[in-house]
Amino acid sequence: MGVYLDACATAPPATTVLEAMARAQDEAWANPSSLHGFGLAAAERLERSRMAIARELGCEPSAITFCSGGTEAAQSAILGVTAPLKPGRLVLSAVEHPAVVAAARRLQRQGWELALLPVDRQGRVDLGALELLLEPPTRLVSVIWGQSEVGTLQPIEAIGRRCRAAGVLFHTDAVQVVGHRPIDLAALPVDLFSFTAHKLQGPRGIGALVASSELPFTPLLDGGGQEGGRRGGTEAVALAAGFAAALTLTGQRLAAHRGDPIQPHRDQLLEQLLARPGIELTGSPTERLPHHISLLVSSERGEPLSGRRLVEALWREGFAVSSGTACSRGQASASPVLLAMGVEPQRAASALRISLGPWLTDQDLIGFTAALGRAQRAVAAA
Ligand SMILES: Cc1ncc(COP(=O)(O)O)c(C=O)c1O
Repeated sequence: MGVYLDACATAPPATTVLEAMARAQDEAWANPSSLHGFGLAAAERLERSRMAIARELGCEPSAITFCSGGTEAAQSAILGVTAPLKPGRLVLSAVEHPAVVAAARRLQRQGWELALLPVDRQGRVDLGALELLLEPPTRLVSVIWGQSEVGTLQPIEAIGRRCRAAGVLFHTDAVQVVGHRPIDLAALPVDLFSFTAHKLQGPRGIGALVASSELPFTPLLDGGGQEGGRRGGTEAVALAAGFAAALTLTGQRLAAHRGDPIQPHRDQLLEQLLARPGIELTGSPTERLPHHISLLVSSERGEPLSGRRLVEALWREGFAVSSGTACSRGQASASPVLLAMGVEPQRAASALRISLGPWLTDQDLIGFTAALGRAQRAVAAA
C-alpha cells in the first residue's frame, strides 16, 4: 500500500504482540476479580504482564497502573497526585503534549497557578528557569521526555534531581521514548512516569502510569478497586499481554544492538534530506529521539510550503508521513510547540515529521528523498 514513516503517530503491532494477545484472550478471558479458577487464571496472566513490564523498566510491579493509554496515564498522573494536595503551582515545559496541557488547564480552573518553562530554539528547557520556579508553592513539575513533534529529548535526570532536592514531585511523559532507549526507573529521579503501548508496536487502548504505591493518589476513575485502587474498571488482560510482549521485544532489540537499530538508518536519511534545498531540521540535532526526523520545508525559492499539502503529495508518492502530531488532526493553526521554540507562524505551518520503525528495510527508504523533492515542487506549483 505504501511505506509507513509515521511511527510517532502509532506503530503497526508486531506479530509476537498479536500472538500474545490472541493466547491471552483465548486462555485468560475471564474477569481477573472473579474468585473461581477462570478468574484466577486471568489474574495470574495480568500479573505476569505487569511483572514483565516492571522488569523491562526497572520498577516495582506494584508501581504500575494499567489504563487506556498515554493520555489517561499523563492526566491521571497530574490530576491523581495533585488531588490530595492543597492548590499550589504546577510547572510545565512550554512543549508538552496536549494531554498534559489539558490536565494543567483543569488544575488552573481549580485554583492552581500554572508556570511554563521556556525552551530554546532546539526545544530544550531552560534549567536556570526551572531552578527559579522550584520555590514554594510549586508542588509538581511535568516535562515531556521525548517531544513528539520535534524529537528533542529533555535532560530529565537533571530536572528530576533538581525537583528531588526541592521536594517537588516530577512527572515525565515518556510516551515517545519507551522502546527506543533502555530505561532504568530505579536509577531515575522520576516520581510519575507515563507511557503507552501503541507507539512501540503494542496494542491501542492500553498504557500505564508508574508511580510508587506509597504515593498519595486519587484515581481519575473510581470503581471496583482494581489496579490497587488506582483505576476502576475490569482489567484488559489481553491488551496487557500484548503490551508486555511489545516491551519485551523492544528490550531484546535494544540489548542486542546497544540502542535503537533504526538510528543509523535515520541518520543516513536525515543527511540526504538536509542536502536538499529548502529543508531545515527542527529540534535538537544530537539530543533527539533515535527514530525521529522533523523538518521545516520551503520551496526551492525559499517560500514556506504547507506541511499538510506536503503530506498529501508524499502519500501520492507512496510514503505515509505526518505534518505534526496525529493527535492534533483538524487543527490548522500553527503548532504551539514550534511557536514556543521561536519559529515564525508561517514557517511553523511547513512542518513535516518522518518517524521510523523496525518494520522498514533500506529498500523502503530508497526514493524518499527524491519523492520529497517532487512533493516540494508539486506543492510550490499548486
Ligand atoms: C508525547 C505524547 N504524549 C501522550 C500521547 C497520548 O498517548 P495516547 O495516544 O496513547 O493516548 C501521545 C500520542 O501521540 C504523545 O505523543
